[in-house]
Amino acid sequence: MKALFVASECVPFVKTGGLADVVGALSSALAAEGVEVRVLLPAYPAVKAALPASTTTVSPGRLPGGRARLIAAEAAGLDILALDAPRLFARPGNPYLGPDGKDWPDNHLRYGALCRAAARIAQDGLAGWRPDIVHAHDWQSGLVPAYLKLGTAKAAANTPPVLMTVHNVAFQGLFPAEAVPALGLPARGFTPDGFEFFGQLGFLKAGLVYADRLGTVSPTYARELASASFGMGLEGVIAHRRAELSGILNGIDLETWNPASDPLIAAPYAAGRLAPKAKSRKALADRFRLEDSGAGPLFCVVSRLTRQKGLDLLLEALPRLLARGAHLAVLGAGDGDLEAAFAAAARNNPGRIGVVIGYDEALSHLMQGGGDAILVPSRFEPCGLTQLYGLRYGTLPVVARTGGLADTVIDANAAALEAGVATGFQFSPVTAAALGDAIERACDAFTDRKLWTAMMRRAMKQPVGWESSAAAYAKVYAEMLEARA
Ligand code: ADP
Ligand code: GLC
Repeated sequence: MKALFVASECVPFVKTGGLADVVGALSSALAAEGVEVRVLLPAYPAVKAALPASTTTVSPGRLPGGRARLIAAEAAGLDILALDAPRLFARPGNPYLGPDGKDWPDNHLRYGALCRAAARIAQDGLAGWRPDIVHAHDWQSGLVPAYLKLGTAKAAANTPPVLMTVHNVAFQGLFPAEAVPALGLPARGFTPDGFEFFGQLGFLKAGLVYADRLGTVSPTYARELASASFGMGLEGVIAHRRAELSGILNGIDLETWNPASDPLIAAPYAAGRLAPKAKSRKALADRFRLEDSGAGPLFCVVSRLTRQKGLDLLLEALPRLLARGAHLAVLGAGDGDLEAAFAAAARNNPGRIGVVIGYDEALSHLMQGGGDAILVPSRFEPCGLTQLYGLRYGTLPVVARTGGLADTVIDANAAALEAGVATGFQFSPVTAAALGDAIERACDAFTDRKLWTAMMRRAMKQPVGWESSAAAYAKVYAEMLEARA
């Protein structure tokens, strides 16, 4: 089976969050399921720089925003189709934001062009290759099924089915109504049953309405999405199509994230040989200038600093963490007020709290390798990857009971401890008080070395790779084809 992935990010070329990890790792993992994946990406400068010199190019025809070409190349073990439209994509840095920190004003044209190109490839094929199914990821690819379905009925019947995966419903791709003609979309689709979202054009809304099947990245988030508390205005559309929505847990790349071979940590370790983890802990403490006696746990955070991630709650709970003799290392970037508040917390608690503001992939490995526990107090979390890295590295997750966090961590409550299944700490409701309680429970558990070590070993053995989820995607693809037959 052949699948076309359409996405705005993909590891190792361009990444602002977990979407990039998932697009890169899932497309590779699907090979074992007999699915041949090509990934259509915008040819941002970082993508172009990574492509080999010998590439083939074809024209996808006229797109919103002008002419473009498609570069087909293999890079980093992936089969890439890069949409080369310099006027739209030759901009360095964060893919979505200009130098002023605001969304590029032509984002509708940029990602509209990506969607139009994807629809052409799906319809007409590309030099002998035509996908059997299209897998669209997040709002940037939401118009693909709209372009396919809103042509003539005959053309629509001949196009491959589309799976629309929601990685985060908070990002919807909303634009003024004037974008509709600019993108060559028919006015008849601009209704509440189509791609209109309260008077605006909604890219994600279009994907949810016109795709053949819907997906998201954990079973709990699939349920949450259909509710007003989590659906962000799209809960009605999602609830209506609930039977066609699959919640499939993300995995992680077990080679990139492997404490037994990770070159970015101080020394390799494994479930059966935990002692060398102490070397990474030391390196981490030095890097963050922590005066670490080892008496309490070293908590880590690796995160975008946004309201979603609930890190304002951690700021409130800090006195309780410090009172227990614990330490904290934070790596993150995002909202200015959170960046400033964490920087101030580090200044006010030298040797106890260390903060690095910025994005640093290498340091994120050392944090998973050296930390005792990773904090993920998200208000909502479709899946979350850092708790999965934490499990793999024996860095016990302390997480809010929501979305994929609820599905991947087993709370160390009395029953789970007795049954010998606990892998971390969950808290609910998502408040500073409940987070503080969970931090204190982790501190208590840390004093019992036998218990803590048993939890580390169990966490490290939990399957967090892609195998079962890649198989689940392959099954959805097969069902989509069957439904068309
Ligand atoms: P989201 O996609 O919502 O940001 P995920 O947990 O799914 O959340 O994925 C976040 C990814 O980005 C993880 O791979 C995490 O390690 C990485 N990450 C987040 N912030 C940073 C940072 N400041 N430096 C390095 N890696 C980061
Ligand atoms: C989004 C979500 C995150 C998820 C990632 C990959 O960025 O916020 O929870 O893990 O997508 O699916």
